[in-house]
Amino acid sequence: MGRKILLKHINEPGIQGYETYRRIGGYASVEKAVKTMTPDAIVEEVKKSGLRGRGGAGFPTGMKWSFLAKPEGVNRYLVCNADESEPGTFKDRYLMEKIPHLLIEGMITSSFALGAHTSYIYIRGEYFYIVNILEKAIEEAYANGWLGKNILGTGYDLDLYVHVGAGAYICGEETALLESLEGKRGNPRIKPPFPAIKGLWGCPTVVNNVETIASVVSIVNDGGDAYAALGIGRSTGTKLISASGHINKPGVYEIEMGITVEDFIYSDEYCGGILNGKKLKAVVAGGSSVPILPAELILKTANGEKRLMSYEGLSDGGFATGTMLGSGGFIVMDETTNIVQNLYTFARFYHHESCGQCSPCREGTAWMEKIMHKILHGHGTLADVDLLWEIQSKIEGNTICPLGDAAAWPVASAIRHFRSEFEEYVKNPESIKEVNHLYNTQLA
Ligand SMILES: Cc1cc2nc3c(=O)[nH]c(=O)nc-3n(C[C@H](O)[C@H](O)[C@H](O)COP(=O)(O)O)c2cc1C
Repeated sequence: MGRKILLKHINEPGIQGYETYRRIGGYASVEKAVKTMTPDAIVEEVKKSGLRGRGGAGFPTGMKWSFLAKPEGVNRYLVCNADESEPGTFKDRYLMEKIPHLLIEGMITSSFALGAHTSYIYIRGEYFYIVNILEKAIEEAYANGWLGKNILGTGYDLDLYVHVGAGAYICGEETALLESLEGKRGNPRIKPPFPAIKGLWGCPTVVNNVETIASVVSIVNDGGDAYAALGIGRSTGTKLISASGHINKPGVYEIEMGITVEDFIYSDEYCGGILNGKKLKAVVAGGSSVPILPAELILKTANGEKRLMSYEGLSDGGFATGTMLGSGGFIVMDETTNIVQNLYTFARFYHHESCGQCSPCREGTAWMEKIMHKILHGHGTLADVDLLWEIQSKIEGNTICPLGDAAAWPVASAIRHFRSEFEEYVKNPESIKEVNHLYNTQLA
């Protein structure tokens, strides 16, 4: 069995509640931090741990924290990104629902390290039932002296709020999230300045993912070196993977970074193999935004080595033959999967979710959806496949935020690796099976 950090106590009966969480050693990191450590010492431990942001980009957390500006007399904020709207990703939901105090504990310890006295958890609107779970856990933390004024008699004050979004994917982008938190339309801001310099209400702010913040608990308890001893190379520690699609055991798994993709898909400890003994066709390894890879490239790199579940392992080969770990939304597709139809579902999503601020994204996502629709309905030409390629290449890198890239990469990779399936629709429209406009049942 692989080592577990975040999900170690997940099956403990009653772990959602304060008493049980305390009994398994909960809130020890807060006590250690506020009573025995300086904020700088905590930042050092996080740097040593090698922890990288679990929201998708994999930016080193300790480095991000050390960028936080500290002008005298100006508030600093920690904002937890619990927007989790990336299709295929549901690990933050699992963590918050099953063991909410772990996130609350991580928020308190991290806020102390950053010198924040007011912190927020920004949660997507569709997770309304988790809001109640978090609110209850926060109430319990206040009642037991972990939040509020003069925490554990140390003089440190912290207030923690849950802020509910209205269900827009773009509000997961950290600057759009801050706009939304300030009560405005969630349009991404132009960077620089980055939030560490000018974030919430114009003050220095750190935005971190739920899993990132929860990971800080064990780093403070056991030390950065112990965390860094797990994993492989620059991918230290463990990672939560949301596994879905055509597998025997869908769910959220905590893996040690560096296990092989083959092991993850086929071993009984994780996905348990492909459903109904079918063959693997393709995998989207890091949430809908990352490039799709065919079976031969997800299992092995272009050099013929077994591909590893880590930042470097999944990106080995660049976009030509590799992909990204992203947010860890691992969508498995068997041999019956219709790649073009599946891509159309993603294209509709990105068109719907584009905030419309940048023309390449606003117009490009609309055109990609229209052309895909045309191809899927038997009205496409070979020139349309080239046009699709051309449009995605004009979006990538040309927008304020990476939603444009996220919309372009699935299209580029599907054409790169499965062009023949697009051409089949164009040359042989009779091959078109039922097209479900509303929902791709193959991923259900
Ligand atoms: C369109 C878009 C959606 C995003 N959605 C999320 C999200 O739901 N959760 C998240 O943690 N990060 C999301 N991100 C990444 C955030 O902008 C940011 O990098 C992240 O919250 C930083 O936290 P981390 O360093 O702990 O990963 C998104 C980015 C983009 C461009």
